[in-house]
Amino acid sequence: MYFIAPSILSADFSRLAEAVALAEKGQADMVHLDVMDGHFVPNITFGHQLVAALREKTRLPLNVHLMVDNPARMIPLFLEAGADWLSFHLEASAHVHKDLETIKQAGRKAGLALNPATPLELMSEVLEDLDFVVIMTVNPGWGGQKFIPATRNKIQRLSRWLAERGLPALIAVDGGVKLDNLAALFELGMNIAICGSSVYGSQDPVATIQKMKAVAEEFNRKYSRKP
Ligand code: DX5
Ligand code: ZN
Repeated sequence: MYFIAPSILSADFSRLAEAVALAEKGQADMVHLDVMDGHFVPNITFGHQLVAALREKTRLPLNVHLMVDNPARMIPLFLEAGADWLSFHLEASAHVHKDLETIKQAGRKAGLALNPATPLELMSEVLEDLDFVVIMTVNPGWGGQKFIPATRNKIQRLSRWLAERGLPALIAVDGGVKLDNLAALFELGMNIAICGSSVYGSQDPVATIQKMKAVAEEFNRKYSRKP
């Protein structure tokens, strides 16, 4: 399964509903919403009220990425707001298993995000509880940064690890993903491409998403073929 998830972090913040409409028009699979609290990361973006407002404006699933300290405090608010996929950072949670359970009990997709310097191995005990993993391929907090090359190996190792253990978690890759490196990242094991500046910083976001979707569809065809 290969998905395109435009991140509105790089869109015009005074016109976020329009940014979501563009994602829908380009046939994106979901929209990625970056919540920053000014503590876990230096910037502040938006909270659950905005997620609830966008929930009213689109039929696309909302993939919410919490870059916040003490996620346990915030998770119920974002579930209530209508997050369909909800991830928080392993580095920020005191009780990772418990926080994942809160999300799963609400019937939503539970994800764990990992900073570039955090070893994959720290997820070992909860790997089977995960619906998805967010591999950060930049340091969280800003859009438009350069992809950190060393994280390629991490994506590949995670993909092999999940296959070996026969686990269904999907791999989302967040940071510096663009049309140029999309196919190579899908090849390494990425399932969900989170694309901020490469979509909303482009001349024609709808056309960019459509091109990205065409690459994802190619991979969907390639790997759904029966032997
Ligand atoms: C960064 C955010 C990303 C951001 C990615 O902290 O988590 O979702 O939107 O932006 P790009 O695609 O521009 O690297
Ligand atoms: Zn993100």
